[in-house]
Amino acid sequence: MINAARERLIFALDVDCFEDAEKWVKLLHDKVGMFKVGKQLFTRCGPDVVRMIRAEGGEVFLDLKYHDIPNTVAMAGVEASRLGVKIFNVHALGGRAMMKTTVEQVDAAFPRGHADRPLLLAVTILTSSSEETLREVGIERPVAEMVPQLARLAKEAGMDGVVASAREVDLIRQACGDDFVVVTPGVRPAFASLDDQKRVMTPADAIAAGADYLVIGRPISAAKDPVDAAGRILDEMAAALGGRR
Ligand code: C5P
Repeated sequence: MINAARERLIFALDVDCFEDAEKWVKLLHDKVGMFKVGKQLFTRCGPDVVRMIRAEGGEVFLDLKYHDIPNTVAMAGVEASRLGVKIFNVHALGGRAMMKTTVEQVDAAFPRGHADRPLLLAVTILTSSSEETLREVGIERPVAEMVPQLARLAKEAGMDGVVASAREVDLIRQACGDDFVVVTPGVRPAFASLDDQKRVMTPADAIAAGADYLVIGRPISAAKDPVDAAGRILDEMAAALGGRR
């Protein structure tokens, strides 16, 4: 069960240089199956950081949240797939054609069932967006309606899942069923501080709620003993996974 938990734990590599990224990957790689590379680290280091993580035996979640015309996003997605990432994501607000074209192009390069085919995830509404943020851009509907609507659209377009707060897992499962991957940030074990996260869940609760992967950064990186913190998170996840079967 610890191995199953390790595969589901994604460490947010929120650092600004290659050397720090490498240090964290080497330190955590026994406890963490996947490393999330975001816009800052990728803009600084480029594909080399992805190659380094793969060479160390880690999987990569490339968190670049593509949003552009369909062909541009689709081709970026194919390049991400060729780099060997395990997950990449796009904004569901880019629409059905953008997501569908991306799925089709990735399917053509890496058919479903191919070991190197990544999971394609959609971001629904960023948790930093309030109803006021949506109104500013002309969306008058509540976030709680937009999230399941966009998750359903992503599923219809052939996407494999979504990134969502643990508190939204239920809504998404109702809209999209069990055969849809849900990756959740905003996870805080009882021993960690909240940092700037407001709506949090413990790792055990997030797994019990039906999350497939957890993205966790500072509860590990800011701990006195990061390896021990990751180990305690894994134990918690493994116990909750046991309860789910
Ligand atoms: O340090 P912490 O555990 O809060 O890191 C969570 C990671 O997940 C960060 O990289 C953050 O940008 C990302 N994230 C988030 N909330 C979202 C989407 C992404 O915290 N709604």
